[in-house]
Amino acid sequence: MKSIAIVLLLVGGHAASAIAQGQARLVVRADQGRYTISRHIYGQFAEHLGRDIYDGFWRKDASGQWRLRDDVIEALRRIKVPNVRWPGGCFADYYHWRDGIGAREARPTIVNTVWGGVTEDNSFGTHEYLELMDRLGAEPFIVGNVGSGSVQEMAQWWEYVNFPGKSPMADLRRANGREQPWNVRLWGVGNESWGCGGNMRPDYYASLYRQYVTFLRPYDGAAPFRIATGPIADNYDWTDVVMREAGRFIDGLDWHHYIWSHGSATEFGEREWFAALQGAVRTESILVKHAEIMDRSDPEKRVWLIVGEWGMWHNVEPGTNPGFLYQQNTLRDALVAAVSLNIFARHADRVRMANIAQAVNVLQAMILTRGDQMILTPTYHVFDLYSVHQDATLLPMTLDAGPYEFEGQGIPAVSAAASRDKQGRVHLTLANLDPNRPRTVSTDVQGMEVAGVSGRILTAGTMNAHNTFEQPNAVTTAPFTGAKLSGRTLTIDLPPKSVIMLELSPKPTLAEARTRGGSTAPARPGKELRLDFRSSAGTIKDSSGRGTGFTTRLPGAGGNLRPNDVNLHLDTVRARLTLTTTTADVNRQVNMPDLEAIGVKLASLGFTGSEDFSVSARFIEIPDNSVLDLPDQLGVFVGTSTTSLVRAGFINLERYAPPGEKRFNKGFAVNTNGRDDSGPNFSGPDVGDTMTVEISRTAGIWRVLVNGADRSPNGRQDGNGAPAPPAFLDGHSDLVVGVFALDTNGKHKTLVLDEFAARVVPKR
Ligand code: AHR
Repeated sequence: MKSIAIVLLLVGGHAASAIAQGQARLVVRADQGRYTISRHIYGQFAEHLGRDIYDGFWRKDASGQWRLRDDVIEALRRIKVPNVRWPGGCFADYYHWRDGIGAREARPTIVNTVWGGVTEDNSFGTHEYLELMDRLGAEPFIVGNVGSGSVQEMAQWWEYVNFPGKSPMADLRRANGREQPWNVRLWGVGNESWGCGGNMRPDYYASLYRQYVTFLRPYDGAAPFRIATGPIADNYDWTDVVMREAGRFIDGLDWHHYIWSHGSATEFGEREWFAALQGAVRTESILVKHAEIMDRSDPEKRVWLIVGEWGMWHNVEPGTNPGFLYQQNTLRDALVAAVSLNIFARHADRVRMANIAQAVNVLQAMILTRGDQMILTPTYHVFDLYSVHQDATLLPMTLDAGPYEFEGQGIPAVSAAASRDKQGRVHLTLANLDPNRPRTVSTDVQGMEVAGVSGRILTAGTMNAHNTFEQPNAVTTAPFTGAKLSGRTLTIDLPPKSVIMLELSPKPTLAEARTRGGSTAPARPGKELRLDFRSSAGTIKDSSGRGTGFTTRLPGAGGNLRPNDVNLHLDTVRARLTLTTTTADVNRQVNMPDLEAIGVKLASLGFTGSEDFSVSARFIEIPDNSVLDLPDQLGVFVGTSTTSLVRAGFINLERYAPPGEKRFNKGFAVNTNGRDDSGPNFSGPDVGDTMTVEISRTAGIWRVLVNGADRSPNGRQDGNGAPAPPAFLDGHSDLVVGVFALDTNGKHKTLVLDEFAARVVPKR
């Protein structure tokens, strides 16, 4: 029992006390959450290894022409693959990219000495990989050669894929048929440099890394997101030295963590099942230690911890090339994936990307192929179920799972993660690790009124159930009906060895109910502009000259701005826009010395003055008082100028709160000709939270929602001085809608935005 208690203590998100066997208790805070679960943690890995590329993604058709496989692409698109790491792996430090460009018949044939000693004809190179990314809708992640390459070779590859102007490498790209750069950003500098990538010591690698990244120059449209070789498993020394010596040049640290079974992928008993899941559970304590080390040199958590290779590593299938690492994939692998992905999600503050090894035909693959046939593995189905978490807000939770015990050892029987998506739906992913006993999870969903529950389950009759070309659907998902809602309590009956995804839909808010009643809100579809900050179109430029998506400043703001606003930074990899308030935008209004107010003209969406419209934005990771001083503000505005606007969001008035009372925010303010009429105080969102603000006008009625709660101006004097609706804006055809950040004391404040949408509903 002692070992159980220790394991439980180590597992973040799990309460330390064990409860009755067969029972588990879960508490989810549906209205909270400060971190986004990056879609990139569901990333894939394509390596020139065995039949991953050749046969897996790339195959000759009947006429002998090389082609990307449509079936594989279609299957991977269904699970929303966000990025694919390429060309390795160990192969990356053997790969010379110029072997893989130009006419295919003229490309040199080499020997893949690291994997199986087979011939590599280089028919799949840079252009083919980037076409694959395009067809998958995935972000490229290229790993450059440090071990046997040179600084010049890597810098030229970067120039080849990214330089927009005229240069030797850009001209070579054009000569090879590609006019526009691809704007690749995720860039690995070597792979496993402590091992197959050069057997380096960490301090040597750190120096080399600094040298290599110096020559990855930012170009218009592409700044490198620099990824350093990270540690293997629990090599904390590597993390410590590399972060200390090179941390300020690193954007992502590429940690590799495999779980070795040292046995058959399909022939095993409960001992091997338990060991695999114990390994998966242990991932969390190792991850936490690496994260703690990173915190020492990077307390702001700027650097991503990337789990750049992970998964189960079994013996190869009998009769196959040992250098090809081809293995089958059973329900055991699916459970390991489920537990691992729950862990990565729960550490969304630091883990922002992960790449399971590998996508097709190698190690813990999503897909196995035989000739023209393809099967989906149990692990594929876990990625399918878990895709609901992509870019959703991680919800805080506590889980008292009780133990799954085997031969005197114990691990938590249930693994879970929870998120809230942009539509307000909550998703739970749960796994019952016990192959013999069901678990009943009594779930308290706090801060949400649940309207309905639906779900899907992945399970099978045996631990080693798997799909074959003869029986491709032996392990697949099915609707799940084992969740019952009673008041706020959701009772979930998890069968043994199962993975479940549940979707909880929220009861509509008052405002939504009104909308659905058809009386006031914009119920009909309209013309919409939705920025997700992955592209850089737009005429207001950030510090690097990228278009932010916004096209207009609120008249009266931004008098003396330079063409590239140093206070804006667009991060198209994280899909975020940061706004720093210093002295950029001066609107000269009382109490508003420094204001960033950027947006779009509603007229660009067909607005002529009287149409219904709405504007919303999501701010993430709200900083604390030391950054966001009294009475700093951020939020959404609608107006014609800086002295004629309505704004809503967060006003830091905490210091005005009576002792003992938390009154951190003020929700609403209207400004006419310099007057500052504030709205009601309300508590939450809090430091670190996400805040979504929406202002709408429907059939003449103004409404404000902050995190779904109605903060509408109604003119009622309710003790908080609620202002009247901003009638002074009615009838104006020149409304600008956008986001603002207001600095009141001349200190830097950086605020982060990851979503913006504006909509105009045409008149009938
Ligand atoms: O995924 C197989 C190999 O494992 C990769 O090439 C290497 O990086 C790791 O050691």
